[in-house]
Amino acid sequence: MNLNHINYPTPFLLVDLDKVRQKYQMLRAALPGVEIFYAMKPNPESRIIATLLDEGCGIEVASPAELCQVLSLGARPSQIITSNPIKAPSFLRALHTHGVNRMAFDSPIEVDKIAHYAPGSHVYLRLKTDNTGAEWPLSDKFGVDVAEAPDLLRYAADKGLRPFGLTFHVGSQCLNPHNWAIALQNCAQVMERVAGELPIEVINLGGGLPVAYGRAIPTLTEITTTINEARHRLFGNQIRFQIEPGRFLVGDTAVLAASVIGKARRNDNHWLYLDVGIYNGLFDTIENFAYEMDFDVEPGRPYARFTIAGPSCDSMDKLFTNHPIPDLQVGERLYVQNAGAYTTAIAGHFNGFPPPAVIYTDDLPSHPVDNGLAGVTDQTFLEKSVNPANPVQKKPKFGFIESN
Ligand SMILES: Cc1ncc(COP(=O)(O)O)c(C=O)c1O
Repeated sequence: MNLNHINYPTPFLLVDLDKVRQKYQMLRAALPGVEIFYAMKPNPESRIIATLLDEGCGIEVASPAELCQVLSLGARPSQIITSNPIKAPSFLRALHTHGVNRMAFDSPIEVDKIAHYAPGSHVYLRLKTDNTGAEWPLSDKFGVDVAEAPDLLRYAADKGLRPFGLTFHVGSQCLNPHNWAIALQNCAQVMERVAGELPIEVINLGGGLPVAYGRAIPTLTEITTTINEARHRLFGNQIRFQIEPGRFLVGDTAVLAASVIGKARRNDNHWLYLDVGIYNGLFDTIENFAYEMDFDVEPGRPYARFTIAGPSCDSMDKLFTNHPIPDLQVGERLYVQNAGAYTTAIAGHFNGFPPPAVIYTDDLPSHPVDNGLAGVTDQTFLEKSVNPANPVQKKPKFGFIESN
């Protein structure tokens, strides 16, 4: 892949909206009859949301800001749900005002709040479920056991809400298809316990579908075959299904471009510093997400093992340890693959290092991005500004080369 021609200062995230469409269509085909809501937290870029709305996808929102954004993009209330089990009163008021009346809960106090601020809402109960095999487990924070569920559903009904569904989250980047089958089995048990009393109409299959980060992952077909088999076996045509993927719809639709801003040798370790770190783009590396990287260097460039770190002065800001990559020089770029989820969405400005700009493949041919900085890479900056008489050498004087 050659992206060095993109004349835009790093860091930037290059998003391919056609791929977003393809991911949505792939999921629709794999889960017939299942309504899809994009859980927008992994990448809330408006053009991504508009693309998915245009495809007929719904949106899962978790905060007032997400709600406002989605409404401003033209989503109808019937296209919006919220699966955040704990909602601030202001959020509940906003949901009610805008007619968004499907939401998750998992505690009696949440029922009281919903009944007060968004009376009559249709509510679905978040169940606890096994997150084993998920690279980013979630289930401690939310959800109730099967045994607690019937009373909580009854309590919601007593308070004038309509407890119409169940949901769960098998853990983000879930590599264990069996988790969905276990969770569906839990839903079946809850339904059995309230049968004839409370009509459960919908099961929301949550998020968790993975994308590839350099390790083997189950295919979409492996996961959806497990889901489809379990839902048909346990429920037949009795109820409707929804799913709210985040990472799956956007994760492998974008590439993150970063530049080398420094190198150092410390004892026996070789360090390489990028303009992106955990605080401004690659947060998931704290859970050892092994992003694949691409390099635009001449064939035969020797490889070396580096500890790769972000630009901030914080010692936690380390991305990969002892990682073999071509021996890049200051000013050269690398491209982090499948970086569309939980990157720019989480990135902050810690230590003054900005989040990556988001640009789109659509814009590249017809409207080259020009923010006045085009062509000013770190490399040319060094060559032209710092030492015009002595441009930066391709091979550092005290550098090292280790052949692979
Ligand atoms: C309630 C809920 N639904 C969906 C998602 C999306 O999960 P993922 O990105 O793993 O698909 C999340 C992520 O945290 C979530 O909390």
